[in-house]
Amino acid sequence: MTKLETIAAAAATCTKCDLASTRTQVVFGRISEQSPLMIVGEAPGKDEDEQGEPFVGRSGKLLDQVMLEELGVARDRVSIVNTVMCRPPGNRDPHANEIAACNEWLEAKLDALAPKVVITLGNFATRLLLFGDPAAKQGITKLRGQSYPWRDGAVLVPTFHPAAVLRSGGGPPLAQMRADFIRAKQAIAAAGATL
Ligand code: URA
Repeated sequence: MTKLETIAAAAATCTKCDLASTRTQVVFGRISEQSPLMIVGEAPGKDEDEQGEPFVGRSGKLLDQVMLEELGVARDRVSIVNTVMCRPPGNRDPHANEIAACNEWLEAKLDALAPKVVITLGNFATRLLLFGDPAAKQGITKLRGQSYPWRDGAVLVPTFHPAAVLRSGGGPPLAQMRADFIRAKQAIAAAGATL
C-alpha cells in the first residue's frame, strides 16, 4: 500500500465527528499522486455521498469544464479534495468543529502529496488554508484575484466555489474563476512543474 492508500483506508471508517452517522460513505478525494495541483472544495453533496467521488454533481461539471478549458487537463491529472470528507445533512454548511475534526485528514493528504499549487474553492477552504480558521471574517470576493505564497514554497490561489458561480448565472464570477485558474496554471509553470 502507498502512504495515501494507508491514509485512505483509515479515513474510510472515520468517526471523528457527527457527520459519520449520516453519511453514506467517506469521500476521501480524487488523488493523483504525481500532480503538482490540489483543488480543495467544501464538502460532498448528495451525488458525491452516493458515488464516493468529489465534485460529480452540477458543481463538478463546471469544475471539469473550467479545468479542461483553462488548464487543458481532465480531472485525472489533479488531486481534488474537500475540507470535510462527509456530506453535511441537507447540504448545510460544514460546522467549524467538523472542519476541525477533518483537518487531520486534509493535512495528511497535503503532507503526502506536497502540491506546488493549491486552488481553494470558496470561503471555507480559503479561510481554512489561508488563515487556519474556517470562521475567519475575510470573504472570497476580496481574497480571490491573486496568488498567495503558501507553506514550503507552494502557492495558494483562491477562487469562487463553482456552486456560487452557478448561482450567479455564469456572469462575471465565471470569468473571474477562469482568470484564477489561469493564475494557477502560471504558478505551476513558474514552479517548473507540468500538469
Ligand atoms: N461541492 C464541494 O465543495 N465538494 C464536492 O465534492 C461537491 C460539491
